[in-house]
Amino acid sequence: MLRFGYDIGGTNIAAGIIDENNCLIAKDSVKFPRGEGSEAVIADCAGLYKAILDRAGVAADEIAGVGVAVPGSVNPEAGLVIDAHNLGFHHTPLATLLEAVLFKPVRLVNDADAATLAEHRIGALKGTRTAMMITIGTGIGGGLIINGTLFGGGRGNGTEPGHMVLCNGGRHCTCGIDGCAETYCSATRLAKDGASFGKATAKEVIEAAKQGNADALELFKAYIDDFGSYIASIINLLDPERIAIGGGVSGAGDFLLKPLRADVARKCFFETCPEIVVASAGNDAGIIGAGLIVS
Ligand code: BGC
Repeated sequence: MLRFGYDIGGTNIAAGIIDENNCLIAKDSVKFPRGEGSEAVIADCAGLYKAILDRAGVAADEIAGVGVAVPGSVNPEAGLVIDAHNLGFHHTPLATLLEAVLFKPVRLVNDADAATLAEHRIGALKGTRTAMMITIGTGIGGGLIINGTLFGGGRGNGTEPGHMVLCNGGRHCTCGIDGCAETYCSATRLAKDGASFGKATAKEVIEAAKQGNADALELFKAYIDDFGSYIASIINLLDPERIAIGGGVSGAGDFLLKPLRADVARKCFFETCPEIVVASAGNDAGIIGAGLIVS
């Protein structure tokens, strides 16, 4: 049967239909209704569901269930988003709210875990036993593959590698703690620091650095230093076979990877570093991964 996946992010809500071969056969997205509360999110999700099914000519009874990727900690058994700071969701019974409008079973998953599942099934982590995916967007997310399966946390809370403290008393994070890796390694950091020399987004900063803009190059060098320390620490903890980097910033490709690999090689404890590659399941990895959790 077909499955339906949502990837709810702080910027957009993306969704689509996944077929038996884990291919996305129809998709669409709308802007995340920031500050309008969970009712607006549910209404947008319901609208997307109807529009995508209608356009694809798929009837609701062809959909086995719905998976929802959320940028925060979730309790899948209770269908609860515990804390998704970048969405403003706290103890939100998202699965129940969506079930009431979609009339389908709904299961939640952390967005980075969803992307990790997709990378492991069809992308850059295929075939690995111990690996990590790191997504760099508004926040930093990550998922761990241990013994060939997604690690859901020792107590079922998942993993939150973006909130490992990289700098004591450092930059203030949306989660309320100071110094989280997210505040140094996310696209948001590049955009925030880039504002001081007129660049509004991470993409603009990276483009300017590529063109040789001195301010952008200086910022990018500091970013690589922070990101390299973060990845080297993860490697020292896990000794993974491979690390895949996804999310918007990974679109910089070799411009990011080359200096990053060199920085990590300098800081990693081990004699050799694992492979660091760009994620390959694409921008839709979150939707596909959300579909993968539907049983
Ligand atoms: C959240 C994670 C999420 C990541 C990427 C972080 O701020 O805490 O749960 O995976 O952002 O969206």
